[in-house]
Amino acid sequence: MIINISQRLRTIVDLVQKSNIICDIGTDHGLVPIFLVQNKIVKKAYACDINEKPLKTAQKNIDEAKLTSYIKTIKSDGLQSLPDENFDYAIIAGLGTPLILDILKHDKNNISKYIICSNTNVADIRMWAKVNNYQILTEKIIYENDKYYECLVINKQLKNINNSKLDLLMGKSHSQKDFNFEIYSKLWNKRLLKNKKLIEILKKKDYKRYKNLKKINKQISKRLKYVSEKFL
Ligand SMILES: C[S@@+](CC[C@H](N)C(=O)[O-])C[C@H]1O[C@@H](n2cnc3c(N)ncnc32)[C@H](O)[C@@H]1O
Repeated sequence: MIINISQRLRTIVDLVQKSNIICDIGTDHGLVPIFLVQNKIVKKAYACDINEKPLKTAQKNIDEAKLTSYIKTIKSDGLQSLPDENFDYAIIAGLGTPLILDILKHDKNNISKYIICSNTNVADIRMWAKVNNYQILTEKIIYENDKYYECLVINKQLKNINNSKLDLLMGKSHSQKDFNFEIYSKLWNKRLLKNKKLIEILKKKDYKRYKNLKKINKQISKRLKYVSEKFL
């Protein structure tokens, strides 16, 4: 059975290059590893989840796709129960940034790259890569069900390139060949507007935060202007 996946999951699997072994952390339905093996992008995969119910669903989908020899389900809290193999990628998608950062506390030497996709505070994940001296290779923004998700490919074999505070906040996808200006500008205009509303509230309540957020918004506007001039 050939599976169909959402646009969000499609963007995530498109970030995976041909490889031997991957793991999908918080796999739920198991669709990511199924798609990758079915389309011969990866040879072998581990579908990992902390909960029994999603693992059963994943196993059922793997059985139906007749891929039991290639995809194993594992009950694991994050990366903690992964087998001792060399993983080309660990994929972590559909979880909030605080949980992702908790999972990354157990970062392992046998994982070469991460594909991480979150819709909150992605700057904290960029900061994690910087602190650990890992390079962010690619970034993608996805819009699905009225939410913006930011996906990062982090290569642990390459050293971090010096990033400014603004790069950590907004990423550097605008320097990529396949940059999507439309979605980038929608996301950042939405955040600018949200910040503006917060600035108005903070004005009377918290002067220090008010000044700080005003400064950040000014920098975001400047970057947006620079990027629009480059791409429009
Ligand atoms: C919203 S689903 C995301 C499914 C899929 N990755 C996606 O992007 O569509 C989150 C899944 O993560 C699992 N999960 C939550 N905490 C986890 C942890 N610490 N380790 C592994 N899986 C976890 C949940 O059981 C659930 O199946």
